[in-house]
Amino acid sequence: MGACVVTGAAGFLGSHLTERLLAAGHEVVGVDAFTPFYDPRRKRRNLEAALAHPRFRLLELDLGADDPARLPDAELVFHFAAQAGVRPSWGDGFAEYARHNVLATQRLLERYAARPPRRFVYASSSSVYGDAERLPTRESDLPRPYSPYGVTKLAGEHLCLLYQRNRGLPATALRFFTVYGPRQRPDMAFHRLLEAALDGRPFEVYGDGRQSRDFTYVADAVEATLAAAERGRPGTVYNVASGQPVPLLEAVAAVGRLAGAAPRLTFAAPAAGDAPHTAADIARARAELGYAPHTPLAEGLAAQWAWQRSQRAAAAVKGVA
Ligand code: UGA
Repeated sequence: MGACVVTGAAGFLGSHLTERLLAAGHEVVGVDAFTPFYDPRRKRRNLEAALAHPRFRLLELDLGADDPARLPDAELVFHFAAQAGVRPSWGDGFAEYARHNVLATQRLLERYAARPPRRFVYASSSSVYGDAERLPTRESDLPRPYSPYGVTKLAGEHLCLLYQRNRGLPATALRFFTVYGPRQRPDMAFHRLLEAALDGRPFEVYGDGRQSRDFTYVADAVEATLAAAERGRPGTVYNVASGQPVPLLEAVAAVGRLAGAAPRLTFAAPAAGDAPHTAADIARARAELGYAPHTPLAEGLAAQWAWQRSQRAAAAVKGVA
């Protein structure tokens, strides 16, 4: 089994991918800068299982600033490090998005164009579609980001594709649609909704709650990533979604069934940059990657609910909040 580099290995998706690659028999070098966008102690917890594995090594490195020569040659490179999150990308926040999503990607591509891996997989985002031309959206539809964050993810994607065309780096990009499940980032809707339900606090809905998302369970996203590393066509982008968009309020009702009581809600103004609806056409990923999402929303939410409860139980035992 070849050696893999996973950037953003301590993040939500990156840590799941790392564990899956280790389970498949790969050696993994996990790269992470432990940026403070959310508590880096959470990221260290995400990596606990990997750190105990003999085929895992952690490389603490900021791709936007540190010497890329420190990165090892690899058979597969998964670029999952990013400044994530749609809503904080306005104003002064944008500088971090530009640095972590554009400059860091360019520096990583330069490093691996010199010694190309068998495949370079880039974690792109549904946010490149923004207020999409049509729903469900195909990869060939015009990307039209609606947030500064979406612009930086699209710029990163274009960088990958142009290094493929110009420099022969075999890059493939996956446009993930609102991924959820255990270890979901604490700024994301389901994480907040479940915490609010556990505390008996109201969850703040941005807008009227009728916005819809093609929520994707993390294990399905990881399987798509492995398939892209094996079968993805260089120079090609793939939507990775459940293919079953639901309105936010429907997900709220599903959480009510888990919690045994309807979550209390407050309503705020719609958030600037939020796309009203996302919905993916996943025919290309099905046909070329053999991708088949398996996890229905109720099941995936139950897994995230169990994880958030277990985190609280562990914190209570340790006596920390
Ligand atoms: C998510 C991730 O945060 C991005 O990093 C990622 O690139 C993107 O998915 C993607 O599709 O690739 P988002 O769709 O905004 O972005 O995910 P959530 O934070 O789960 O939000 C879902 C919906 O809930 C949005 O309409 C948002 O406005 C709403 N929301 C979120 C609330 O109503 N209240 C909150 O407290 C948080």
